[in-house]
Amino acid sequence: MKATDLKKKYLKFFESKKHKIIESAPLIPEHDPTVLFTTAGMHPLVPFLMGQKHPLGKRLADVQKCLRTQDIDEVGDETHTTFFEMLGNWSLGDYFKKEAIEWSFEFLTGDKWLNLPLDRLAVTCFKGDKDAPKDEEAAAVWKELGVPEERIAFLGKEDNWWGPAGETGPCGPDTEMFYWVSDEKPPKKFDPSDKRWVEIWNDVFMQYNKTGPGKFEPLEQKNVDTGLGTERVAMVLQGKKNIFEIEVFEPIIKKIEEISKQKVNDLNSKSFRVIADHMKAATFILGDERGVPPSNLDQGYILRRYIRRSLRHLRLLGVELSSVDLTVEISKVVIKIYEKDYPILKKKQDFIFTELKREENKFQKTLDKGLKEFEKIAKRGKDMSSQEAFLLYQSYGFPIEMIEELAEEKKLKVDVKGFNKEYEKHQALSRKGAEQKFKGGLSEASEITTKLHTATHLLNEALRKVISPDIKQRGSNITTERLRFDFNFDRKLTNEEKKAVEDEINRVIDEGLEIKKEEMSPDDAIKKGAQAEFGAKYPPKVSVYSVKGYSMEICMGPHVKNTKELGHFKIKKEESSAAGIRRIKAVLEE
Ligand code: ALA
Repeated sequence: MKATDLKKKYLKFFESKKHKIIESAPLIPEHDPTVLFTTAGMHPLVPFLMGQKHPLGKRLADVQKCLRTQDIDEVGDETHTTFFEMLGNWSLGDYFKKEAIEWSFEFLTGDKWLNLPLDRLAVTCFKGDKDAPKDEEAAAVWKELGVPEERIAFLGKEDNWWGPAGETGPCGPDTEMFYWVSDEKPPKKFDPSDKRWVEIWNDVFMQYNKTGPGKFEPLEQKNVDTGLGTERVAMVLQGKKNIFEIEVFEPIIKKIEEISKQKVNDLNSKSFRVIADHMKAATFILGDERGVPPSNLDQGYILRRYIRRSLRHLRLLGVELSSVDLTVEISKVVIKIYEKDYPILKKKQDFIFTELKREENKFQKTLDKGLKEFEKIAKRGKDMSSQEAFLLYQSYGFPIEMIEELAEEKKLKVDVKGFNKEYEKHQALSRKGAEQKFKGGLSEASEITTKLHTATHLLNEALRKVISPDIKQRGSNITTERLRFDFNFDRKLTNEEKKAVEDEINRVIDEGLEIKKEEMSPDDAIKKGAQAEFGAKYPPKVSVYSVKGYSMEICMGPHVKNTKELGHFKIKKEESSAAGIRRIKAVLEE
């Protein structure tokens, strides 16, 4: 079974269990400052796991594009990639452990579905600690279904507990499913540390809200959040031993063989796999609904590192980088694999190729010189100082993990701590590889960003009222520090205009208007005058938020209840963002 067919089958199964299918959210989240990328299907659903009503009901399922940069060091083995597609189903305060487990079991073993043999399956459950009891309930359901006792292992929080990337938020014990991938007969007793047992699915029972370090409060709404790795399960179904042999990787590996004029083998497979994973990730970041170009900041910097590390591994395979636009050639293959399931990649391919080309050319100029410089340093056979590492970064654009990788190949160490200090001093990005950007945690972050989100709606409307009725939103981004809003307008705003917009918004805030949410079809919403995102693909039912008597937008929320919660609105910057597009950055003050 191909990955595409697996995805279809999964959605069909959960449709038959009365789930509504939702679209994959963008890889780059809009309103969540706790992560740089969407790392799981539950991520875009956090407000609904916390109790907000979802317009499509209490049972949802989807295929979510995910990126886990924290797994980057493991890329190269049989089963790890940083980009993957996660299949997921959710209960938002509806069904719980029994149904979730029964349905996972039915999908995996049912002859109408995946038809996997029971004697190759094993599961883990939470073993219990001071925060939550041993999950006998989940284990009992598995036993009832026919999973033998010796195939059920109980593990602690490190393995059988799941929460979002932030330090607070919805979480709970989980039960994970494993499949025996070896040709040897599966052992009777399940040993979770044996790598031949590959994790394929995780059912999380979100019954707690983590409110601080070691603090867990029961969640009013008990949810189910599951995640099944599409590529891993496709690998299992196709009887392959490694993920890079399935059809969503194989053409990429082939292309790299063509470019490098060599076949993949045990000695060079790491480079092949790194390039295949990284170029796929780079293509999806550039081709995201909220895609960004390479830069020295946040997502743009992760992207830059993906591209540069790929180039360095191509170089390791003996490829001359002066041959034309290798990354574009590989990216074309990625787009071809995914264009049916993600038409946006094709739509954005000019942008993807232009940016790849630009980054490749830029790095090509310095890579060889930098490698020479590195060789000089390495020749001394001494560990590398932070200044030396920083020189390679600053003069030749070498990302730090690439420097570490180069050094490791020579059995040398790098003073990474010192490098990071140096780096911060130079005001580049201080959050090395950070998934986690906001230390205050999810709930504090969400309080701040919820306010800024409502302020964004007010700004959108105020610009139309005060400046021009033709203004439309062209982009928006919220962090815990500020809101950013792009709109069409062909000149700089005057100081008087900026002041008039601020006054208008502060007047609305002071009036204390209520924010109301309704659910309706997108057509009805637009007929009623709601602002909608240009070209967006909406589900049959959407949430519409209105600030009483002032503005109305199709939007997922969340928002504050009353404008008076917002404080004082202030524009910090107004500048050009692209031809015909202006950008405002604004804050809320106490
Ligand atoms: N959110 C859970 C995971 O990513 C399902 O494993």
